[in-house]
Amino acid sequence: MNADLNATRQHFDLWAHDGSAQRMEHHHAYPTQVAFEAVEWDPAWRALDIGCGSGWATRLAAEKLYLGSVVGLELSPKMAELATNLSAERANIEILNNDLFGADLAETSFDLVHANESLYYILPLAEALKKIHGLLKEKGTLLGIVDYYTENEASHVWSEQIDAPMELRSEAEYVQLCQAAGFTSVTTRRILHPAATEEGSWQQTVGSLFVRAVK
Ligand SMILES: C[S@@+](CC[C@H](N)C(=O)[O-])C[C@H]1O[C@@H](n2cnc3c(N)ncnc32)[C@H](O)[C@@H]1O
Repeated sequence: MNADLNATRQHFDLWAHDGSAQRMEHHHAYPTQVAFEAVEWDPAWRALDIGCGSGWATRLAAEKLYLGSVVGLELSPKMAELATNLSAERANIEILNNDLFGADLAETSFDLVHANESLYYILPLAEALKKIHGLLKEKGTLLGIVDYYTENEASHVWSEQIDAPMELRSEAEYVQLCQAAGFTSVTTRRILHPAATEEGSWQQTVGSLFVRAVK
């Protein structure tokens, strides 16, 4: 494993059991809810949740895909273990402990890919998007949610606080990179979080960047 991946893996191993996994679920749930509502789900779909953390969104997707299945992909062994334990009762979930480029995932085998706050850890981002494009079936959709992006100035300091390499890109660059990866339709929107978040915070001013890209 290269040094970058190892740093990311170790960072999220620490976050698996210090309350951060629950905190991320709390903060990331709303944008995923909005992103999931933007799609017309077929219950027989096969989905991939990249950087699934504790697997909360994997389980939400699995509820919708009661005739299909969901793979939760997670680099950190401790996060993957947590996701596996929390998902044990769901027969249509498989948690894989690997990175996007190393995982044994068949090309054109997914109808939907969800990635909440994980894309910018998978470097280079341009290659990650090409890989995701290859994993999707024709007309398959990527739902990407990104809080660390150029227009969210409050997020820039995270690269100093989080001991893992991260790629900072703008909204326009996400669109360009998705198009360059081969996606035919790419749209973005900002998701402002509900009033429960701190007044004047980035969640209420610039919000989460939601990238929807169709193959
Ligand atoms: C900020 S967390 C978000 C976790 C989860 N999506 C959530 O919202 O709670 C980013 C996750 O992506 C995972 N990750 C980072 N790089 C990855 C890679 N190359 N392949 C798979 N997972 C990766 C990390 O281990 C971490 O659990």
